[in-house]
Amino acid sequence: MQPDVEAMLVRRVLAHLERRTTDTAAAPSTIPVAAYTGEGQHERERVRLFRELPLAIGHASQLAAPGDFFTHDAAGAPLLAVRTDEGGVAVYLNVCRHRGTRVEPAACGQRKAFVCPYHAWSYGRDGRLIGVPHPEGFAGVAPEGRGLVRVPAGVAAGLLFVKPRPVGDGEPAELDAELAAWLGPLAHDLEGFGCAAGHVYAPRTVTRALSWKLSIDVFLEAYHVRPAHRTSIYPMFFDNVGLVDPIGPHLRNVFPKRSIRELAGRPEAEWSLRPHANVLFHLFPNTLILVEPDHAAVLHIWPDGPARTVLTSYTLVPEPPATDKARAYWDANNAILYGAVDEDFAMGESIQRGLHAGANRELVFGAFEHALAHFHHQIELRTA
Ligand code: FES
Ligand SMILES: [Fe+2]
Repeated sequence: MQPDVEAMLVRRVLAHLERRTTDTAAAPSTIPVAAYTGEGQHERERVRLFRELPLAIGHASQLAAPGDFFTHDAAGAPLLAVRTDEGGVAVYLNVCRHRGTRVEPAACGQRKAFVCPYHAWSYGRDGRLIGVPHPEGFAGVAPEGRGLVRVPAGVAAGLLFVKPRPVGDGEPAELDAELAAWLGPLAHDLEGFGCAAGHVYAPRTVTRALSWKLSIDVFLEAYHVRPAHRTSIYPMFFDNVGLVDPIGPHLRNVFPKRSIRELAGRPEAEWSLRPHANVLFHLFPNTLILVEPDHAAVLHIWPDGPARTVLTSYTLVPEPPATDKARAYWDANNAILYGAVDEDFAMGESIQRGLHAGANRELVFGAFEHALAHFHHQIELRTA
């Protein structure tokens, strides 16, 4: 993050603490419950958001050397991400071109070629069909058109983004240019926090009984921190103090820690935000990056039907932990994070259970819950 941006954010926090205020919109707003439950809404989101927008599925450090791969199954299509011999990243549909079997069964690893378990058709790292046992049975079936199908993919700030559907006719397979425009200044912010240089630690996948939108809502305001995290993380934070900056369709939220008061008496040149606040980036529609003092947590939130979420997440650490002590350190951090995330999801699941009860036609966002209003407005713009 630029030093001047960092100083501006610290200045805003200190001003709020002095005045006992927080970032707010001009007024509260409402959202119809039908935005969560409405007929057809989930399908529109699946098609317009989760097929046509760049979605982050992982981190480039998971594909360090040629042939490194990981598979990904939460995005609505089975995906196979591979580091190619040329050093680029290619993402394919993990579906055999013979009769459609899943080609790569493993979660991650390194391969010279990907061999389908059913009849052993094999595909190169570049996706080309390179081997067909008993080829005499396939006279006239050209291998050229039967390579693994690519999906649009690209890397920005170290994150690997895809559109989980085949590359269209005339459409580039590389998303890089589109990503630069889509993320705008956020890419720079994330690079500044070391997002590109990080290494993935402790990836996990969890399924919860709530809408993907509720799963994001629970992260986007500081109003709940005192009651919902009273004994876990609230002692580190303030009651309902946060900064909210929409950046295009995305959001940057700052949740200051009590220690930030120390900066008030120091010259601005010595200010540093990161030790004294969690910075939460929401990359629309479904990625959250929580930047903490010495690492970041990355959470990708995937719809699995209207009322179920698959959460794929990992910790980005500065270097892969080599000792038990280092692992214990990050594990202790993760225990705090995921403890708080469980508290958040418990509230979100509680909301989910009540959505259909008829108690509310609409829900209310307080003026300081305006990050949620921004998020839902962005959904509405693209799915109405
Ligand atoms: S389905 Fe893959 S080789 Fe037959
Ligand atoms: Fe929370």
